[in-house]
Amino acid sequence: METLKMIQARKAVRSYTGQISAEQLQTIFDAANAGAVGMGQFENYRVIAIQKESVLAQLNGIYDAPTVFVVAATADTPMEAVSAGIIVHNMALAAEDLSLGANYNMASLGSIPADVLPAGFKPLIALTVGQTSETFTPRNLPADRIQKSTVK
Ligand SMILES: Cc1cc2nc3c(=O)[nH]c(=O)nc-3n(C[C@H](O)[C@H](O)[C@H](O)COP(=O)(O)O)c2cc1C
Repeated sequence: METLKMIQARKAVRSYTGQISAEQLQTIFDAANAGAVGMGQFENYRVIAIQKESVLAQLNGIYDAPTVFVVAATADTPMEAVSAGIIVHNMALAAEDLSLGANYNMASLGSIPADVLPAGFKPLIALTVGQTSETFTPRNLPADRIQKSTVK
């Protein structure tokens, strides 16, 4: 999908019809890998894909998503939070390009079992992902959904 159209078509999808394929999972990992992080400190970030039923069952507010990607970092300063946001947004757009449903998720963060995360890493944002029957076409959003201004 053309990039600008894809940006306009992106939406929170909370309804999933099935598991993603191994190839789709890898494509989303590759999108995360292309993300930017503050000061280029890539070693301070991890992306973990959760597909294990017993772990998914413990996560709050994931709308029965079959895959939950977690972006974790060694610290929780504004730099790590923004970097995690950039990583997760790359993954969301990759999911959309694959016609998968995806949604950013913070509701689950406090319920992620500690043993799922590498030692010393905190979860900052998650992405729920799955097959979906929803379709993606550019949305007619209110032009002022986010207020904008130009200083010149
Ligand atoms: C940082 C962040 C955290 C979010 N956490 C959740 C969440 O925990 N649960 C949820 O259903 N949606 C969550 N969302 C999705 C937003 O509710 C959604 O993006 C917003 O309502 C705008 O809708 P749109 O994505 O369709 O444009 C989150 C979005 C962001 C950016």
